[in-house]
Amino acid sequence: MAKGNTFYITTPIYYVNDVPHIGHAYTTVAADVLARYWRLRGHEVFFLTGLDEHGQKVQQAATKAGIDPQVHCDQLAPQFETLWKKLNISNNAFIRTTDPQHKSIVQRYLQQLYDKGLIYKDSYTGWYCTFDERFWTEKDVEAGLCPDCKRPIEQLSEHNYFFKMGQYQEQLLDHIRTHSTFIKPESRRNEVLGFLQTQKLGDLSISRPKSRLSWGIELPFDKAYVTYVWFDALVNYMSALEYLPREKPVGARFWPATVHLVGKDILTTHAVYWSTMLMALNLPLPETIFAHGWWTVDGEKMSKSRGNVVDPNTMVERFGADAFRYFLLREVPFGQDGDFSQAAMITRVNSDLANGLGNLLSRTLTLIERTQAGQVPTPGTIGPAEQELQRATMTLLHESLPRPLEQLEFNRALEAILQVVQLANQYVDKTAPWALAKHEADAEQLRTVLYTMAETLRCLSLATYPVMPTSAQSLCAQLGISVDFTDSLLKDKIEWGGLKPGTAIHKSQSLFPRIESKPGAKPVTESSVPSQPMPAAPAPTAAPAPPAAPQITIDEFMKIQLKTAIVLSAERVPKSEKLIKLQVSLGTEQRQIVAGIGKKYEPDVLVGKTIVIVANLKPAKLMGIESQGMVLAAGDADVRGLLTILEEVDPGTKVK
Ligand code: MSP
Repeated sequence: MAKGNTFYITTPIYYVNDVPHIGHAYTTVAADVLARYWRLRGHEVFFLTGLDEHGQKVQQAATKAGIDPQVHCDQLAPQFETLWKKLNISNNAFIRTTDPQHKSIVQRYLQQLYDKGLIYKDSYTGWYCTFDERFWTEKDVEAGLCPDCKRPIEQLSEHNYFFKMGQYQEQLLDHIRTHSTFIKPESRRNEVLGFLQTQKLGDLSISRPKSRLSWGIELPFDKAYVTYVWFDALVNYMSALEYLPREKPVGARFWPATVHLVGKDILTTHAVYWSTMLMALNLPLPETIFAHGWWTVDGEKMSKSRGNVVDPNTMVERFGADAFRYFLLREVPFGQDGDFSQAAMITRVNSDLANGLGNLLSRTLTLIERTQAGQVPTPGTIGPAEQELQRATMTLLHESLPRPLEQLEFNRALEAILQVVQLANQYVDKTAPWALAKHEADAEQLRTVLYTMAETLRCLSLATYPVMPTSAQSLCAQLGISVDFTDSLLKDKIEWGGLKPGTAIHKSQSLFPRIESKPGAKPVTESSVPSQPMPAAPAPTAAPAPPAAPQITIDEFMKIQLKTAIVLSAERVPKSEKLIKLQVSLGTEQRQIVAGIGKKYEPDVLVGKTIVIVANLKPAKLMGIESQGMVLAAGDADVRGLLTILEEVDPGTKVK
């Protein structure tokens, strides 16, 4: 997809009539992922985003706020720039269409087209709504009322300037037919083709009289008019290259753009208006215009009046930038519409990130700390299980990640990463390093397993970096390696074994803490913690026997699902003497359990132990932390000992 050694990616420039929402974040995050990926591949990337500051919408918003439009833009612009910082957007430039350089470039293009006779003045008659200050076409209007505000509208004639767009219809059709990747996805390409094949392309009005819209760029050949929004806005993709890059001149090297990312609603303006404008200016067309789908929220259209606009700032604060970025691109195929809900986000983050990648890192580091004095061990002879994981990891970096990413199939690229994470977690469950650690005879195999886990994680940091840059860096730091992700790390073939044995790891906080599933739920305080673990039979005592527990039937007992589980990691719950948070494996799944065993046990001694848990207990919150089950132990208020199994059995084995 990248041409030569350069990659030029753009987002739409966003209207500054309101604060940024999830739709803006979506395109910008997707562009950032591609920019980061192509930089890793050693390409020279120019990533442009910015703001569309002229036009009626912005003028109206400023009038409503009772301020000058420029002041309004200057007040809103930082909201976008700050959000992009929070989301770790690595744009090379930020354009604002009120930049004086942009304005003069727009005027230069207008003059060029005017001189070539490609812009002419004509009268235009249409249905005009004075309240909304806009024209409507015949088919929009019903019963003489404005389709938007429902006020009566009138026929109005106005002189305007027009760009001879219609004369490029055949040339554009030909270009789309001969360039299969010009408009993507395929379904959108067919829509544009269908429209151009069946309807006559008209000329494009590019001006408004200043008397009606003053907030725009003055036409160089008629000072009574300003250019209308699209002629000003679309030119940003070219003008930015002229004055924004620090090293100049870069423009010639970066044009044509590699990818313009746009939402489906603005595909026509890009594929038809922009393309014909470029044809008229004798400039090459962008390589790809990709139209992505729209987000609804909890099944509904997102709108201010519904009060369901998703603020990306809140998402970053609640879930972290990386988790939010991951969700946006993992949940829905790029190009299709999708639905956003916090519940879906929590499920996705917990299953893929906390239980998947985060857990793999945490168990690897815990085991290296406990059994190898915190140093990456030297591997011994590798067997088929190691070979399988190595092969899958290398295939990920060389094929199954690049292929979909280069086609903008972000969800498939992320699925490929997840498959390797799952394979690695299964490898750990199968090889059971905690059991190997018990016998000196297995020491070499233990070292091999731990090295394989750590090296897989190093490779996963490269694969995850474009989508989750902060987590990839933290992952490397915890593995004890310093990686400069601004280097072209994926330029050459990656070799297995880059992680040096002897490297001292630095385990710190978990990469993706589990998110509690009920955002509004009242946290359970320690004093209200049900007695954990499950009380055993009362101890014999001289005092009058407590009333016997009511008898239950075998069917009632069978409702309780007891299973074995292996403790993968354990840590104390802050501010609690009693509670320990365990991550346990049941073979096919991982769980978090909070157990009241902290007075009896230090967390470290629990790791690697096979315990028994109640697996079908409803999740509960203990001191605000979700517990997905309960461990069994002997004792009453005081825990005497955890239930373990004499023989080695697989995690997840049923206990009756
Ligand atoms: N200023 C023009 C673009 C000019 S580009 C030369 C514009 N701005 S916008 O702020 O209204 O929209 C910007 C982008 O946000 C569009 O690509 C649009 O598709 C996208 N989205 C707006 N709402 C959206 C969702 N609910 N979901 C996903 N994207 C959405 O149009």
